Order: sequence, then C-alpha cells, then structure tokens
Amino acid sequence: MEKTLSIIKPDGVARGLIGEVIKRLESNGLKIIAMKMLKMNKEQAESFYAVHKERPFFQSLTYFMTSGPIVVMVLKGEDSIVKYRDIMGATDYREAAEGTIRRDFATDIEKNIVHGSDSPKTAEFEIGFFFNSFEVNG
Ligand code: RTP
Ligand code: MG
Repeated sequence: MEKTLSIIKPDGVARGLIGEVIKRLESNGLKIIAMKMLKMNKEQAESFYAVHKERPFFQSLTYFMTSGPIVVMVLKGEDSIVKYRDIMGATDYREAAEGTIRRDFATDIEKNIVHGSDSPKTAEFEIGFFFNSFEVNG
C-alpha cells in the first residue's frame, strides 16, 4: 500500500470545496490516514516547493499557497500516487480530463484546488514535511 500527500489549496478551502474533494478521494478507494488544516508562512511554502525555485512561477505560487488555510492529508491505497493524480487531473485545468477535480473546479493554472505528490520519493519528503509519525495512522 502506497502513501501520498494531498493538499486542498487556499482556493479550494476558500471556495468551500473541502467536502467535495474528500468525497472524491474516499469514493475512489483512497483512505485518509492523517489530516489537518494549517496556514503556511512564506518561508515554509518556499521550502515545501524548493524543487520549483528556478521556475518563473515560484514567487507567485509560494505567495498564493500562503494566502489562506490549506488542508493537508496523507492518503493510502494501491498505486495511490498515480491514482490521486488521475483524480486531480492535469496541472492546467483546460487540459484536465472530464470528471477530474481540476477540470470541474479550477479557474486558473495556479489556482488549481489541489496538490498531489508526484513520486514515492517526493511523497516521503512531503509527508514528513507536514506530519510526524504519531500523526500518520497506518
Ligand atoms: P502540484 O504539485 O500542485 O500537485 O501540481 P502539479 O504537479 O500538477 O504541477 P507542478 O508542475 O508541480 O507545479 C506546481 C504548482 O505550481 C503552479 N503552477 N503555475 N503559472 C504557471 O505556469 C504554473 N505552472 C504551475 C500550480 O499551482 C501547480 O499545481
Ligand atoms: Mg507537482
């Protein structure tokens, strides 16, 4: 069973989409084994997104990610990394498949509702970034 990190981004929380996102995760067989709401500061967001520090959108992305509370979750399931990315849809909502979270709700390439880890190595780093071992129940 594989673990992955999910974030409901500030736009998703502000727009009242927490329940909608969680419903899609659970109905697709992903089990939530850790969850909390928090607000990152700029330094934390820059460290979380350090892999993107050379990208042109880094400042904008890290500013957006500190603009309000987020919900962070650890998901567990078979092939959870790929499965959750399929449920999210492509980064750009205009390219996302029908029925995905981003296609249904995103309004902008940056404000795209959710985040998901992209590999087992990233998942391990991202889960450890937000949770200690006592907070991950499975
Ligand atoms: P995420 O990391 O949030 O799950 O999304 P992703 O893998 O689909 O996309 P990634 O390439 O890792 O980019 C991280 C986030 O940066 C914002 N972004 N803005 N303005 C732009 O061209 C642009 N490109 C990406 C999005 O919020 C994206 O999810
Ligand atoms: Mg990514």
